[in-house]
Amino acid sequence: MLKIIYHGHSALEVISEKHNILIDPFITGNPKAKVKASALKPDFIILTHAHGDHFGDTIELAKNNDATVIATHELSEYLITKGCKSHGMGIGGQREFDFGKVKFTIAHHSNSLESERLYMGEPAGVIINTGGKTIYHAGDTGLFLDMKLIGEMHAIDHAFLPIGDNYTMGIDDAVKAAEFINCKSVSPVHYGTFPVIDTDPNEFRRKIESIGKKCVILPIGEEVEI
Ligand code: NI
Ligand code: MN
Repeated sequence: MLKIIYHGHSALEVISEKHNILIDPFITGNPKAKVKASALKPDFIILTHAHGDHFGDTIELAKNNDATVIATHELSEYLITKGCKSHGMGIGGQREFDFGKVKFTIAHHSNSLESERLYMGEPAGVIINTGGKTIYHAGDTGLFLDMKLIGEMHAIDHAFLPIGDNYTMGIDDAVKAAEFINCKSVSPVHYGTFPVIDTDPNEFRRKIESIGKKCVILPIGEEVEI
């Protein structure tokens, strides 16, 4: 059993039995977030990439909670220079942590820390096994055929897929992604935060249901079991 709290955009709180894991904690400046960053108490933070709308409050949250940030190598090295605890990984690599397994996947996007004009290597998606579930957070990405391989190699229970278009997959590409990943259920993320990514999650839900999958449109700031 796994509890999830969606904080808007791509920010997710994953609550397993003993651990609190934050993914892409963009809270301060996120118009959809209903929580203050200072109220979050992560044990681990997982980053898909360094863009400000994903990196968000990472440094403050990591330091204030003595949390370990799990990120791709360049981003991890950067965080260590900022005084954070961080564990670096590469795409395709998997590692077991106290809460479960983490594996980074490819994502077709870009990856920089815009505020410092620093490039940060490759962006990623992430597969997490925890609380008896396998979840996939695609990060920011366009549709890619290798998602089929992700579905073949992992029994994904639930996928978090961007649907906002412009920077990432839009609705139709995300529906195709859900097919490729072969997940049981899916939640849309990375939409509605800003006008440029204002797509309709109900259209996504209708299209996901038409291919026989469950779609969970996550309420913001509420605990949901998946
Ligand atoms: Ni991005
Ligand atoms: Mn983004």
